[in-house]
Amino acid sequence: YVEDETEKGMNYEQKHWEEEHMGAAIMKFGARDAKARAKEKNKVKEYEVIMDEEIEFIQALQMPGTIKDKDKKDEVSDDDRKQMSMEETRKSLPIYPFKEDLIAAIREYQVLIIEGETGSGKTTQIPQYLYETGFTKDDKKIGCTQPRRVAAMSVASRVAQEMRFKLGNEVGYSIRFEDCTSERTVLKYMTDGMLLREFLGEPDLSSYSVIIVDEAHERTLHTDILFGLVKDIARFRPDLKLLISSATLDAEKFSEFFDDAPIFRIPGRRFPVDIYYTKAPEADYLDAAVVSVLQIHCSQPEGDILVFLTGQEEIETANEMLQERTKKLGSKIRELMILPIYANLPSDMQSKIFEPTPPGARKVILATNIAETSLTIDGIKYVIDPGFCKQDSYNARTGMESLMVTPVSKASANQRAGRAGRTSAGKCFRLYTAWAYKNELEDNTIPEIQRTNLGNVVLMLKSLGIDDLIHFDFMDPPPHETLVLALEQLYALGALNHRGELTKLGRRMAEFPVDPMLSKMILASERSKYKCCKEILTITAMLSVNNSVFYRPKDKMVHADTARQNFFLPGGDHITLMNVYNQWEETAHSTQWCYENFIQHRSMKRARDVRDQLEGLVERVEIEMTSNPSDTIAIRKAITAGFFYHTARLDKSGNYKTVKHHQTVLVHPNSSLYEDRPRWLIYHELVFTTKEFMRQVVEIENSWLLEVAPHYYKNRELQDGSSKKMPKATGKSREEVTRKY
Ligand code: CDP
Ligand code: MG
Repeated sequence: YVEDETEKGMNYEQKHWEEEHMGAAIMKFGARDAKARAKEKNKVKEYEVIMDEEIEFIQALQMPGTIKDKDKKDEVSDDDRKQMSMEETRKSLPIYPFKEDLIAAIREYQVLIIEGETGSGKTTQIPQYLYETGFTKDDKKIGCTQPRRVAAMSVASRVAQEMRFKLGNEVGYSIRFEDCTSERTVLKYMTDGMLLREFLGEPDLSSYSVIIVDEAHERTLHTDILFGLVKDIARFRPDLKLLISSATLDAEKFSEFFDDAPIFRIPGRRFPVDIYYTKAPEADYLDAAVVSVLQIHCSQPEGDILVFLTGQEEIETANEMLQERTKKLGSKIRELMILPIYANLPSDMQSKIFEPTPPGARKVILATNIAETSLTIDGIKYVIDPGFCKQDSYNARTGMESLMVTPVSKASANQRAGRAGRTSAGKCFRLYTAWAYKNELEDNTIPEIQRTNLGNVVLMLKSLGIDDLIHFDFMDPPPHETLVLALEQLYALGALNHRGELTKLGRRMAEFPVDPMLSKMILASERSKYKCCKEILTITAMLSVNNSVFYRPKDKMVHADTARQNFFLPGGDHITLMNVYNQWEETAHSTQWCYENFIQHRSMKRARDVRDQLEGLVERVEIEMTSNPSDTIAIRKAITAGFFYHTARLDKSGNYKTVKHHQTVLVHPNSSLYEDRPRWLIYHELVFTTKEFMRQVVEIENSWLLEVAPHYYKNRELQDGSSKKMPKATGKSREEVTRKY
């Protein structure tokens, strides 16, 4: 197919794809709504509509499998699998036959790189093997890091089941703001960020006999920093075993970094996967994904479907679309169980995806990147890959970071396809063209360390006594300017002195497992002028769950918006969030109240947990628990003390520009300040969709900036015009604009 194209045609198609796809990432909601409306109008029978929209796929190539179709005897069918007890399942995993060899290798070498296909049993089995072999004697623990919270929780729960322990006893997990371990815990799963924090209390990790840095190929920021730190402590702790475990990617690179450590390869068991590409680019990948699911469901033999989407919001939308369409199809189709999985999903819902599919039914799992390598779900035969993921992007020049929907890398796309061939031959439907795959996707994902703000990590390394960051042992060093900017920001926040050394304030800030701007805000709240620690803790907790506080179901959008607007208080979104929390507390944390006010109860519970933890930390660094609920000026000044970097000003033309870099930014239509448009704003974060939107904004006065950050702002930068508020720039009301997002 590709070969047939003329040079000219390919060029044309390239452009087309780029525009359409970037458009798809951004405009999906608008496009879908238009389609939905058109359908409502026509009242066409839904089944026919699906067929109308049928997406044409072209089969292009086959993923190499190590097992040919005819070697059927190795295949483990769903039924067989169900018959097996958990013990038998363990024995059927590809890693099992290598148990003795693996243990021998671990005994022999201090550092070992372990490489194996996703699902071969690395994460769940290796810690158990080590436990059985006695590595947890003498009160030592085995630590296993995961880049994702969901994976840490779900894997720990699975291993506890396999070992017949209660989760939190011998087997536990620890993620930020949630510690499910006890004195008895010997197998500890944790996020990579949590192990990093453990260095603060135990710089040689002396309570551990083995550290497993798992899913190393994900190359998250924290995993990358861990590489340097564990490599260092392994030198003076010869008794510590270090295992670096990864999917079939990058093993040589890891080996090289760890002084040519040997690589232990677990032979893969992968069935062939047929790859299909769309014939033409898809303008709306969410819609295309939904159509493809139904197409597969109606036309393909049994086997579950896995769809890769970019985040919670998208997953919920796809879920609703699928529910709606399958409902309309009714008994014309077999049962389709729609199961979402993403980080904020409550754990009882998460475990549902692992339950076997009932006979005659089909599961469709709507997942984020988490299902790429961190979680293995059995029974998947079909993968739908729109080719996008959400990624941090950071501009080291302006210091602006935002989350963006980005095309995946080839390596990612192939991992995704591989999910279809774990237990039998499968199919992967890519919602992009073969040309795009070949010419537009990067080979590998750029490690996070090279595209993110390093403030947090630099503060942590500084508090570990690592002063020379330029010469830190990075596997791939971050860009020089990013490091410098992080140092500058920490200096501006007062965490470092002019020699780059940690200050007393910086040391206290490092105690909090949050962004330095947030910890600065917490510490500023104790100042005698503000005395609003209680309020700031509430705001911090609410910000940490911010995007899931308000519930906005499709069929009750107007009610939900009214309910949200009822919480608005002068000052801005931070104050509004505080108001929500306080009202909820007055109802004694009522679920009913949440329901009536379109508030997500589980987000509120999580905010309460976060708040409790922060309160504990506040005690530890001896901050006085003050309260000043009615003085929103004091509260907003404390916020400014942490976030003075995130300042935007309304200019004469009616646009917001960031103060330091004059970048155009917009108030998000959901904000309480969308219509007020005060002259000076602090924003919590920027999110890039169609434009750079500021999410969670609070009104400030320019004089406060001089009060809280005199070293950072010069008077001249903060000159103000005469009128306090500017006229509205757009003639549109909030309602008109909100509908688009
Ligand atoms: O780490 P790796 O990708 O090598 O595999 P794993 O996560 O240890 O998973 C091995 C097997 O455990 C999977 O194939 C699943 O059958 C099972 N598993 C499960 O049922 N539930 C989980 N939460 C995790 C794993
Ligand atoms: Mg794993």
